[in-house]
Formats: sequence, structure tokens, C-alpha cells
Amino acid sequence: MDFNTIKTTAKEKFSGACRLCPVCNGVVCAGEVPGMGGLGTGAAFRHNVQALADCRLNLRTVHSVKNPDLSCRILGMELSLPIIAAAIGGIGLNMKGAMPEEEYTGAIVSGCRQAGTVGMTGDGPNRVVFDAGMDAIVKEQGRGIPIVKPRETNKVIELARQAADAGCPAFGMDIDAAALVNMTNAGQPVGPKTIQELEHIKNNTTIPFIVKGIMTPDDAEACWQAGVDAIVISNHGGRALDHTPGTAEVLPYIAEAVKGKMTVLVDGGIRSGADVLKMLALGADAVLLGRPLAIGAIGGGAAGVAFILNKFKAELSAAMTLTGTPQVSEVPVEILW
Ligand SMILES: Cc1cc2nc3c(=O)[nH]c(=O)nc-3n(C[C@H](O)[C@H](O)[C@H](O)COP(=O)(O)O)c2cc1C
Repeated sequence: MDFNTIKTTAKEKFSGACRLCPVCNGVVCAGEVPGMGGLGTGAAFRHNVQALADCRLNLRTVHSVKNPDLSCRILGMELSLPIIAAAIGGIGLNMKGAMPEEEYTGAIVSGCRQAGTVGMTGDGPNRVVFDAGMDAIVKEQGRGIPIVKPRETNKVIELARQAADAGCPAFGMDIDAAALVNMTNAGQPVGPKTIQELEHIKNNTTIPFIVKGIMTPDDAEACWQAGVDAIVISNHGGRALDHTPGTAEVLPYIAEAVKGKMTVLVDGGIRSGADVLKMLALGADAVLLGRPLAIGAIGGGAAGVAFILNKFKAELSAAMTLTGTPQVSEVPVEILW
């Protein structure tokens, strides 16, 4: 398996739903939701990529860091790299038949496991999306994290218990899907949650609770007050609200508020191992990858996902060597220019 074959195969299978642009930055696919783009003008997607491009690294080579350590412990899981697959739901329904939902979630969850990490799975108005994710996770002995929509609180608890029974290390809720009309139109209302509602979910489940879609220090503090175990700083890859800042822009402020008190994850526009290192230097404990792993899954199945993760791993290792960073668990902000 090689990168060119993965890209060529993915381009064919996507049939235009993703053009596999030289830089995946949301310009060409602006407004393509459903599709792989960002919502509306696509600004939030573009800001994610631009914010990382604006962040620069100090090249340092007079030091003793010859074999950087990429392993980390996230929510009790030992990972061989600080990268988790982001939930991408509805590939089977919305991407011109690029790949059936079950095959997609299977490729993500098992490709992640092969590479020594863990994959998240999504949710949607069609029950197939959540069920395909859970089936893939069960096939991998529970090694996966389902992310449920901010449905009615009791429904979230019911699905979280299903995840706990399957042996999942954690479950999450993408709270930034609070205004997703296709859920409400399908008779499955979603909405924002109060601190008390978050606390109620946390107190009625036994596995760590991740809230995905946090973009302000206030919301992060509220999650912490509710007892949430981890947040994902995310604007849903630019698909929730047009014109938000890039996640790398808000990350330092949120990390200042809650880092060390809860696990801080981030996603959005991460396209290389150097981008991963930038996010760690800005305050994240680990990152999530969305579109790059979707391309890996559609272009090469589980092996394609593992290939992309290993590519990022090699790039991250090189970036750590070239900035004098010995371990991913402690990345100093001083590596940034
Ligand atoms: C086609 C598509 C479907 C998505 N579906 C979900 C989903 O079901 N649940 C969720 O939490 N996030 C979903 N996301 C958002 C991703 O989890 C993630 O936040 C985003 O893709 C990260 O940005 P990146 O793609 O630039 O890496 C989706 C993203 C895309 C592109």
C-alpha cells in the first residue's frame, strides 16, 4: 500500500464528493454539507487550516533528542501516538456510495487498533450510523469510542450504557450538533445542554464522558464543573457554525482554563505530523483526525487508515527531533516561533 494508491482509489470512490485537493482546506468544497465541506461560506473549515499554517515551529538541532517518545496515556488508554480518529458519520448515506457505513466504521476502528490507537464513531438520524459504529467496536472487543448526538438526555444515557456494556473505554457527545435540523426533522430532537444536564449524564454512566465541540473557555469550565472527563475543542470540521475561529486559535485560551483538570483534545484542519506537534504545544493532550483518515479508509480500508496514521507518526517523530521535543506528554510552548 502506498499514499498515491490510497489517494487515487479514494478519489474514484468519492465520485466528486471529495476532490482530494492538494491541500485539504475547505476552499473547493465550501458549503458542501452533506458532503465533505464546511457549512455556508466554509470559513470555519478554512480558519482551522489557516490557524495551523500561521503557527510556526522553531527548528532546533543542537540537543540530545534522538528517539522521541510518541506514546501517551489518554483517559486510561495506552496509545502509541497522540492521534485518535474523529467520528465521521453518514459516509454510507451521503457520499455518493463511496463505501457502505459498516465497511467505513470497520475500517476506522480496526485501522486505528492496528496502529496502536483508537477510533471514534458517529451518530445520525438514520439508526444505521450509530449501529454500524457499535458493530465495528464490538468486533474489535470494545476498542472504540461512540460519539452520540446531543439527543434528549435520557436517550444519551441509554446509548452511553450500551457503549459501557460493549466494553468501550469512553463515550462522547458532539454537543456542537445542537442545531442539527436533520435530527429534529427526523423526530429525534437535539439541543444544547445545561451544566445540570451534563452532570446528570456523567452521574448515570460508568465510563469516561467526552464532550466534543467546545470552542470557549467558559464552556470548557462548565464541562469541568459538570464532572466531564474530556473535551474536544472542535467546530465539527467547520460544519456546525460558519465563521467560527480556527480551533488552534482558541486552544491556548481553553487550555489555560482547564488543562491538567481534565483531558484536552482538539481537532480541525490537522494535515501533518507537524500540525499535531503544534496542537500539543498550544495545549492539547492529543488530537483527532477527521478527513485525512476518511480518505485513508475509503482509499485503502483498515490498512489505509493504519497507513495514514503511521505516516503522521513518522512526520510527528521527525518534527519532534527537529524541535528538540523528547516526549508528546510534555510539549513546551517554546518550540513555537
Ligand atoms: C462528513 C463528515 C461527517 C461527520 N460526522 C460526524 C459525526 O457523526 N459526529 C461527530 O462528532 N463529528 C462528525 N464530524 C466532525 C469530525 O468528527 C471532526 O470534528 C472534523 O472532521 C475534524 O476536522 P478535520 O476533518 O479537518 O480533521 C464529521 C465530519 C465530516 C467531514
